[in-house]
Amino acid sequence: MELKNDRFLRALARQPVDRTPVWMMRQAGRYLPEYREVRGQAGSFMDLCRDTARACEVTLQPLERYPLDAAILFSDILTIPDAMGLGLYFEAGEGPKFHKPVRTPEDVAALTIPDMGRDLDYVMRAVTTIRRELNGRVPLIGFSGSPWTLATYMVEGGSSKDFRHVKSMLYSNPDAMHQLLNVLAQAVTEYLNAQIRAGAQAVQIFDTWGGALSTPAYHEFSLSYMEQIIAGLIKEHDGRPVPVIMFTKNGGQWLEDMARTGATCLGLDWSTELSSARARVGHKVALQGNMDPNVLFASPAAIRAEVGRILDSFGHGPGHVFNLGHGINQFTDPDNVLAFMDALHELSPNYHRQ
Ligand code: CP3
Repeated sequence: MELKNDRFLRALARQPVDRTPVWMMRQAGRYLPEYREVRGQAGSFMDLCRDTARACEVTLQPLERYPLDAAILFSDILTIPDAMGLGLYFEAGEGPKFHKPVRTPEDVAALTIPDMGRDLDYVMRAVTTIRRELNGRVPLIGFSGSPWTLATYMVEGGSSKDFRHVKSMLYSNPDAMHQLLNVLAQAVTEYLNAQIRAGAQAVQIFDTWGGALSTPAYHEFSLSYMEQIIAGLIKEHDGRPVPVIMFTKNGGQWLEDMARTGATCLGLDWSTELSSARARVGHKVALQGNMDPNVLFASPAAIRAEVGRILDSFGHGPGHVFNLGHGINQFTDPDNVLAFMDALHELSPNYHRQ
């Protein structure tokens, strides 16, 4: 099917575009009243992920409101550990939790790679349905968590501030940690390939907690597994290359190493300047980012100034996908997102004149 808007894929390939493409991490979610309504009808969050029609509906909601250049599959990174039998649930206000966390070498040894067609078929059904409903409007992004980020939730049993359990496993039993990360890397590779076969036109690996590691530990326990995944991904589907976006939150000091993994694009949080990132790795990879989501709590004038500053920091020419530096906050006023889009559409063509 003909793609009507390929700005996002062109920018990832560092090809010329008429304006800077944009999407937002967590663009489908609780800041939208129409999401809260469907979420209320669906039951639990995982019920919503498993409900193909509703998952498709909420994926498309932000595209109805805003001129976004990509859709992202509505799902969660924790579907893999859930499919491994850990029993994912969400407690109101407390984030994700697992009934059966992975704490011992025996727990690790018992883990197996989920069967994509049996345990995660609902995700692939959502991808196929969203592609059909998008009808070529914009490309669809598939995603997964990085092995390290998934491991933090699996070992801690949920969200964590200090990563006490997962880091004690890493430092006291690195073999068990590697065994866990290996199973996860294989599962993530199969999961992303299944999403690509089902119709995902680009994929993003969310390494939300890579930045919590020391430099050597980041290389050994996070980056190397993402590199392994990228090596195992389908390179081309339906006659097009499948770009891979690697997002390590707080990973700004490791960009050169990330650019050597085969990733097409690096996602940046707001702590790294695009100008310096471009000088360091812009000849190798595209860059995605990096407005602080909290800018969206300011006035339209302040939002516009920050959009302008970020465009200016990347500078003239191709290779930039505009995004937030992390997921949009649930308390964001949807009208302020419109101000963000308006500013981007007005200012960004100036950076793409031949
Ligand atoms: O970007 C999108 O719009 C696509 C959907 C998406 C969700 N989660 C939907 C979601 C994506 C890409 C994710 C990724 C995800 N999930 C990450 C990596 C990205 C990041 O933010 O760093 C992480 C760490 C998770 C784990 C997770 N799932 C958390 C921490 C939460 C929040 C829990 C809470 O109660 O605040 C979730 C649940 C979740 N995933 C929600 C949404 C819209 C909110 C749940 C709800 O509607 O009740």
